[in-house]
Amino acid sequence: MKNLTADELRDKYLKFFESKGHTIIPGASVIPENDPTVLFTTAGMHPLVPYLMGAMEHPAGTRLTDVQKCVRTGDIDEVGDAAHLTFFEMLGNWSLNDYFKKEAISWSYEFLTEHLGFKPEQLNVTVFRGEGKEGEDGYIPADEEAVEIWKSLGIPEERIFRLPREDNWWGPAGTTGPCGPDTEMFIDTGKEKCGPDCRPGCHCGKYIEIWNDVFMQYNKNEEGKFVPLGRHNVDTGMGVERTICMMSGAPTVYDTEIFAPIMAKIEELAGLGSSSVEVGSGSEKGAPLNASDLPLNDANSPLKDSNEILRAKRIIADHMRTATFILCDPKGSVKPGNIGANYVLRRLIRRAVRYARMLGIGEGFTVKLAEVICDKYSHVYPELKANLEQCRLDLEAEEKRFNATLDKGEAMYKKVAEQLKLHGQSQISGKTAFKLYDTFGFPLEMTIEMATKDGLTVDKEGFDEANRKHQELSRTTSAGSFKAGLQDNSEVVTRMHTATHLLHAALHKVLGPTANQKGSNITAERLRFDFTWPEPMTAEQKAEVEKLVNEWIQQGIDVSKKMTTVEEAKAEGAMALFGAKYGDQVSLYTIGDVSKEICCGPHVTNTKELGSFKIVKEQSSSAGVRRIKAVIGNMG
Ligand code: ALA
Repeated sequence: MKNLTADELRDKYLKFFESKGHTIIPGASVIPENDPTVLFTTAGMHPLVPYLMGAMEHPAGTRLTDVQKCVRTGDIDEVGDAAHLTFFEMLGNWSLNDYFKKEAISWSYEFLTEHLGFKPEQLNVTVFRGEGKEGEDGYIPADEEAVEIWKSLGIPEERIFRLPREDNWWGPAGTTGPCGPDTEMFIDTGKEKCGPDCRPGCHCGKYIEIWNDVFMQYNKNEEGKFVPLGRHNVDTGMGVERTICMMSGAPTVYDTEIFAPIMAKIEELAGLGSSSVEVGSGSEKGAPLNASDLPLNDANSPLKDSNEILRAKRIIADHMRTATFILCDPKGSVKPGNIGANYVLRRLIRRAVRYARMLGIGEGFTVKLAEVICDKYSHVYPELKANLEQCRLDLEAEEKRFNATLDKGEAMYKKVAEQLKLHGQSQISGKTAFKLYDTFGFPLEMTIEMATKDGLTVDKEGFDEANRKHQELSRTTSAGSFKAGLQDNSEVVTRMHTATHLLHAALHKVLGPTANQKGSNITAERLRFDFTWPEPMTAEQKAEVEKLVNEWIQQGIDVSKKMTTVEEAKAEGAMALFGAKYGDQVSLYTIGDVSKEICCGPHVTNTKELGSFKIVKEQSSSAGVRRIKAVIGNMG
C-alpha cells in the first residue's frame, strides 16, 4: 500500500480518470444552488442531477470527474469514532448515459489495486440484493451483473455481500429523481470480527467503506414508484479522508496527515500531549491513550476519562473543519443562526465550543483552528484564504455569544445544584432543566453532563414535558398573530413593547407602586415581565390586571414620544428602571394618562393596534421577584 497525501490522491484520481476519457470539472459550492431539498451539498451528484436525468447535455461531455466538498451531518453523533466526519471530500467519476457497470467496476478495481496498492484480499464488496417478486409491482432484480463482474476480477463469493435497500441503494437526492442500486467497496482493517454477523456495513470498525459505484438506471417518480430511467448513468464517490487513512494504516481519519496540523493545534491549545491509538479502532469511544496524553491542566478539565478527551479533540477538529468550509464558501450565504443551514452551522460551532471548554481550551480557539485549516487547504480551495477574514469575524462573534450564554447557565446551574444538596435532593426537575435551557440558553446535554459529575440526575421526561407545553404556547400565540394579519416579527415585537408598558401600569394600579419592573424580555411569541412582589398573585389580581390592559387597548389611546432629560422625565412622574444608566437625552413614551416611561421603544402609535392581551403564566422568578408571561394577538 502506498502512503499518499490527500494532494497526491486527488491528483492521481483525476489523472487516472482523465486517462479513461473523462473531463476534469470543478467541484461545486458546499451550499447548494437553487436546491431546496438539501441544506448542503452532500454528494458530488447534486449539481449534476439535470444531466443525470437527461434534461440537458453537459458541456464537458458524457464522462466527467471531479473532487466535491461535501457536508453530511446525519451521523453527527458518530463523529469521534474512527471514520465518521461531517465534512469530507468526495472523488467522483460520472458516466452520463455512456459506460456502465463493467467499466465502472473494473476501473474502481484497477485504481484501488494498481494505483493505490490495496491488496485484492483486503477488498470486500456489497451489492444490491433486489426486492419484490418478478412480475409484481415494485419488483427490482438483484444486481447479479455486478456480482459477476466482481467475480471476473477475482473477488471470491465469500467477499461479496448481497444487501437490502438500506445498504445498497443510492438516491434520489430529493423526493424524486435519479437513483439506483450500488456496489460499495470496503477495506478490511484486519481487526477481529465483532461477532458472527460482522460484515461490511457493520459499525464496529473492522470494515471501512471507501468507495461507492452507483448505477443510476431508475427514476423515483411523483407517486414514489421506481421506474426505469431509460438511461444508464454511473455516479461514483470515493472518500478522500477514509482512503488516505486506510492507505497509511492510520487507526483513524484523525491520525492522518490531513488532520495532523489541526489535532496538533488543539493539543497545543489544551496543553495536551499528542495522541496515539490502537490500530483499527472503530468504537464509539475510541481507543486508550498514552499516559502522556492526559491533560497537563487536568485539574481544570471536567473530562477525567482519556477516551472522552480523545473524542472531544476529534469532535472539535471535525466540527471546526466543517464550519470553516461553510463560512468560507464563495456563496457566503450561511451564517450561524436558528433555522435551516444556519442552525446546522451554529450547532457545529457551539458543539465545538462546548467540547473545547471541557478540555480547558480558552476563548478565541475557533479562529486559531480556522487559520490552521485555511493553511492546510487553501492551495486546493482558494476560497478559504479569500474569505478567511469574514470567517474570522463570524466565528469570533458566535464563540463569544455562546460562551457568555454558557457562563450564565453554569452559574445558574451551580445555584440549582447547591440548593438541591442543601435540601438533600439528588434530582434536577424537568422544569428547572427547561428553565436553564429556555431562559439561559443552557443546553440540556450540558445540564446532564454537569449533573452527572455532581452525582445528580436530571428528570429528562419532565424536561420534554415542559418543552412540549412551551411549544404549544408558541403555536397558540403564533396562530394569534397570524390572525392579526401575517405581520412580520418586528411588528409583533413593537406591539409587545407597548403591551409591556400597559402591563407595568396595570400592576401599579392593582398591586401598588412597589410592583416595580425588574426585567423584561420580548420575543415574537410572548412578552415576559419580572417585577418585585413577595408572593404569588391571586386569581382576582391577575384577572384585574388583564381586564385593565384590555380596557386600555379598547379605548384606543394614542402613544406619543418626546426627547427629554432623565431629570425632566422623572419630574413628570415617568417610570424609569432603578439603577439603569441613561444617556443625556432619553425618549419618553406617554400612553394617554395611563403610562409614562423612559424607554428606547419602538412602540405602536395607538393601543388599539395591540388587539388583545392575555396573561398565560404568573410564577416565581427569584426571591421576591415574580414573572409574568403574556401574549397578545387576535385583533378580531
Ligand atoms: N452518490 C454516491 C455517494 O455519495 C456516490 O455515495
